Amino acid sequence: MKQHHIRSYAKINLHLRVMSRRDDGFHDLETIFQEIDLYDDLHFQPTGHPGITLETDAGNIPVDRRNLIIRAAERLNGIQGCRITLEKRIPMGAGLGGGSSNAACTLVALNRIWQTGWNEKQLAAMALELGSDVPFFLNGGLALARGRGEQLSFLTAKPDYCGLLIYPNFAISTAWVFQNLKKNLTIKSKKTTLIDFNTFFDRPDVWQQHFSNDLEETVFAAHPELKEIRDRLTASNAFYVRMSGSGSTIFALFEDQKQAVAARSHYDRFQNFIFKPVYRIHRSLH
Ligand code: C5P
Repeated sequence: MKQHHIRSYAKINLHLRVMSRRDDGFHDLETIFQEIDLYDDLHFQPTGHPGITLETDAGNIPVDRRNLIIRAAERLNGIQGCRITLEKRIPMGAGLGGGSSNAACTLVALNRIWQTGWNEKQLAAMALELGSDVPFFLNGGLALARGRGEQLSFLTAKPDYCGLLIYPNFAISTAWVFQNLKKNLTIKSKKTTLIDFNTFFDRPDVWQQHFSNDLEETVFAAHPELKEIRDRLTASNAFYVRMSGSGSTIFALFEDQKQAVAARSHYDRFQNFIFKPVYRIHRSLH
């Protein structure tokens, strides 16, 4: 049977505010997801008999139900089988959504390959069961998200820049960050409107002033070396520097690739990647 391939892209959070703690233990957020061109490769080989297997070139990744790829495949259909191969590049525990992206790509790819016929709404519900960031990756691109991350508004702006990711060679647990949140959530913050965001996107020079990441304080208190990386990058040519999601990655945005490459040379001791934003809306399966 034919083998299919899909690129599973990473994301950064250009902005992340924690609005309130909910009764179910999750937090309501206001965040801007930007898909980027750092990606894992996923290959799907339908087998024609029940059973899902996962193989990967990365030694430290579970290939059983702890992996969202297996959970996504099983959630779609318990009858048809597939052999899945993952070529991993996106660091884990990095705030780059690698596991969430893999899960969303598995839902999209196997729904087509197996012709299971789930519609977009049903896939979105399955995605949210798998994780807060998974619904975004069903479409990718640039989006404002509220709720846990599932109330998505896709943004039409396409700002052009070149980014640098610094992964400090250690992972951070998202659950730990939310449990240790230093923000005072009794002070109600005002929601930013879509119109505000669309205005900001034409003005990258004001992003540093208007966008934030409420999780930085908690993470920087436990890992001051991340704050140092952020502060040093802020003093470079970058027009915008932040931690992505719950960390541990710090990203810096530059007007052109030359500047990003020049800044990168100071961070050889860490895993680092040069990236561009990805704006396409529909995923292609080959
Ligand atoms: O949904 P996901 O599995 O990615 O979430 C991991 C953990 O992060 C959750 O168990 C929860 O503690 C925390 N979280 C949260 N609010 C969110 C997203 C995640 O409190 N919106």
